[in-house]
Amino acid sequence: MGESQGGSGGYGKEKAVFMIRFISSNKHKYEEIKSMMENAGIEIQWINMKYEEIQEESIDKISLDSANKLIKSIGENFFIEDSGIIIKDLQGFPGPYSSYVQKTIGNEGILKLMEGRNREASFVTVVTYWNGARLHQFRGETNGTIATSIFEGRNFGYDPIFIPEGFNETVSLIPISRKNEISQRGKAIRSFIKYLKDSGSEAKRDEI
Ligand code: IMP
Repeated sequence: MGESQGGSGGYGKEKAVFMIRFISSNKHKYEEIKSMMENAGIEIQWINMKYEEIQEESIDKISLDSANKLIKSIGENFFIEDSGIIIKDLQGFPGPYSSYVQKTIGNEGILKLMEGRNREASFVTVVTYWNGARLHQFRGETNGTIATSIFEGRNFGYDPIFIPEGFNETVSLIPISRKNEISQRGKAIRSFIKYLKDSGSEAKRDEI
């Protein structure tokens, strides 16, 4: 775990308490996570790089495998995060294949697949953290529905077609600060932050 500065025990905006490497090639993820973690007094060092992802049916296992491989090259503490959208009426598809599906058929393709189907979906984020000794995972999930058309805005992945529960617009039209309050990533990161605050470098796997 990163060094503590000042020893006040406070996690206010003004003082960075931990410095943790975040490994990702995705600027949207970095922006969302940076804002949440900095508000909790945790400084993020973004390592903008792609890493290997195996094909697996579980996002948790994919993330664990990637993190295990990164330990050798990164060494000190770091975290990664993997996300996926799960569409009930498509038996959980695209789930762990969300990245490939977004690159291939994209949101338009998903809308075509949804014709005549139940539009319930959920978005999952798994954070995997290496504290220098052990790996820990934190999970967040947000339910919602797939919109009937694409709503351009902040065009990050599936955000233009995902309407979170309790909203009547897609995530692409919601400000980042509001998205962070209700998103799968926001939930996983808050669980991660709580772990950092509560347990220091104690080993445990958190699930929400
Ligand atoms: P990965 O975690 O980068 O593998 O993400 C899988 C797919 O989900 C990619 O196509 C991302 O663009 C997309 N994605 C990840 N997080 C979000 C999000 O918060 N909103 C919308 N799409 C996302």
